[in-house]
Amino acid sequence: MLIRLDKFLTDMGLTTRRQAPRFIKSAGVTINGRPAPSPSEKVDPETDVIEVSGSKVVYKSKRYYMMNKPAGFVSATEDRYEKTVLNLLDEQTRRFGLFPAGRLDKDSEGLLLLTNDGDWAHRVISPSKGVVKTYYIEVEGLLTEEDVSAFSEGITLKDGLVCRPAKLKVLTAGVRSTALVYLREGKYHQVKRMIAACGKHVEYLKRTAVGALQLDDALPGGAYRPLTEDEVKSVFENPPEI
Ligand code: URA
Repeated sequence: MLIRLDKFLTDMGLTTRRQAPRFIKSAGVTINGRPAPSPSEKVDPETDVIEVSGSKVVYKSKRYYMMNKPAGFVSATEDRYEKTVLNLLDEQTRRFGLFPAGRLDKDSEGLLLLTNDGDWAHRVISPSKGVVKTYYIEVEGLLTEEDVSAFSEGITLKDGLVCRPAKLKVLTAGVRSTALVYLREGKYHQVKRMIAACGKHVEYLKRTAVGALQLDDALPGGAYRPLTEDEVKSVFENPPEI
């Protein structure tokens, strides 16, 4: 498929459409060894050799990232009042046109997937695909065996909405309890509302995995990194404990 040279360069995060004409000259962009004539020149990313400052650029238009979302940011591409997770990206990464594949509440933390691949995002989010999301929660109140059973049968939320069967694995039970929650859907505030339906309150929530893809421990809050090819696929596998 032929695409414009400026699209090729912006997809690779090397420049912006507006700055492309200057970039092509200053970085000595060549197509098959010849200086590129103009930003509108059509290139075939599969067969044409594009070099920037003497280095070959291998084209990749689809991008997949994981972020360790910190509290205080909304999972959106823009918001009138709040800082969004895109504000955490550096300038080059922002040029890829990423958006969150799934949401975490403003006060929630943990694994957030970012991509510019709409089909992949749809598969991650769509309840019909049943991708398992894992959450670590800290709860005010005692989590009980009855709560575990209610989760496995399918919790009815206070507004009458019925959730699919889910798994609650209690880690510590006490005045304050901790647990892992495994869900195959993602309704608004779902974990908090499921716990509220059990008469308790979520005080802290962190997503630790999507499918078999675990949040990278090496990423501090607000940091992000590209996924490997295997990781992109692992999202559609079950976590080992399911
Ligand atoms: N469930 C919630 O209640 N909040 C989140 O951020 C994610 C799942």
